[in-house]
Amino acid sequence: MRIFKNGSGEKIEVTDVPLFSTPIIITKFNDHEKYDIESFEKIVRKPKDWTGSLNTSFPSVKKDDPYISQEKSNEIKNSITEHLQDVFECYNMPTDINLTQFWYNAYYEGQSQELHNHLAPNNLNPFWSGIYFAKNCFPGQLNFSRNEYSLRTQQPYDYRKTAIADYYTDFWEASIPDGYICLFPPHLYHTVSVGKENRDKMRLTFSFNLHIGKGFVPEKDWGG
Ligand SMILES: [Fe+2]
Repeated sequence: MRIFKNGSGEKIEVTDVPLFSTPIIITKFNDHEKYDIESFEKIVRKPKDWTGSLNTSFPSVKKDDPYISQEKSNEIKNSITEHLQDVFECYNMPTDINLTQFWYNAYYEGQSQELHNHLAPNNLNPFWSGIYFAKNCFPGQLNFSRNEYSLRTQQPYDYRKTAIADYYTDFWEASIPDGYICLFPPHLYHTVSVGKENRDKMRLTFSFNLHIGKGFVPEKDWGG
């Protein structure tokens, strides 16, 4: 409870509760230092229906990938899986997990990924989705956003001046540094936008969708 005093000196006790908030989990990847991946050229490689410009290996890293070997990618994927099993144990969540899709995204200045989520068209959704921030990831590039507007207010009411302003926030600018992994629920919309901070520095992330159990096979290439 927070305690205020009104004009007559009477105590006013209040609290507010962030009901139904969205969980994301951020964890330091212990094996990060083992993986120093060399930068490569700026190109555009992406599925046809993605509108942003980036170099993505989505939905996997194939045997003939020109930039990161499948062997290296699998090594990172296995290492992340083991790390996440420890994290899930901390949260008393199932540890029988499988990174069913695992790919990389490389960006330079001016490149981006449009607003999207990781839900599957058939509603067989991942348990969690995630991003490993591998190289040259800077604050404000990744944004999570709200797509549910039940808390929108009718003007004129300047929520920004109130003590409940946070409840009206539509965007959350992530400042998650290299070497960390962020898990988010697959329904959560997000974008990536890369500016001049990456003019000469390639931003590299690995993204994944994660299911419980070993038997799940995604039907098609969704969820970038
Ligand atoms: Fe994504």
